[in-house]
Amino acid sequence: MDRTFVMVKPDGVQRGLVGEIVSRLEAKGLKLVAARFEVLPEKRVTEQYKEHLTKLFFPSLKKFIMGGPCFLMVWEGRDVVPIVRTLVGATNPQEAAPGTIRGDFGIDTGRNIIHASDSPESAAREIALHFRPAELSSYTRADESVIYEY
Ligand code: RTP
Ligand code: MG
Repeated sequence: MDRTFVMVKPDGVQRGLVGEIVSRLEAKGLKLVAARFEVLPEKRVTEQYKEHLTKLFFPSLKKFIMGGPCFLMVWEGRDVVPIVRTLVGATNPQEAAPGTIRGDFGIDTGRNIIHASDSPESAAREIALHFRPAELSSYTRADESVIYEY
């Protein structure tokens, strides 16, 4: 099974969307294997978004992410990385399709509610950045046999 890192950003937390987002991923059939509510320290925000360090929007992104608690999660499932990116929708909520989290709840790119890893390599890096191995649970969902064909 694959794993991905998902984070409800401070805007999503403040708007009371944590439960809605967890519900959507659970209902899809994905498995929650770790979660933590936390104000991220600067070092981990910089590491999380290091590909954007030189971008003009980086200082405002960092300030925003550190401006309140985030809800950090690890989700598991077959092909979970692209599946969650599809559920999340395009970076700019105005371009995100209806039915996606950003398409249903967002307006501005700088307030797009949720982060999800963009590749299996990013997922491995981000999970290791935010969680210790002992924080990740391994278990079988009771409905796994009817979610997957094989
Ligand atoms: P994320 O990393 O947060 O899941 O979002 P993403 O992959 O869809 O988008 P990415 O290109 O990685 O951008 C990271 C976050 O930076 C903010 N951003 N602001 N003002 C801008 O032009 C701009 N572009 C990106 C967004 O919060 C975006 O999610
Ligand atoms: Mg990204």
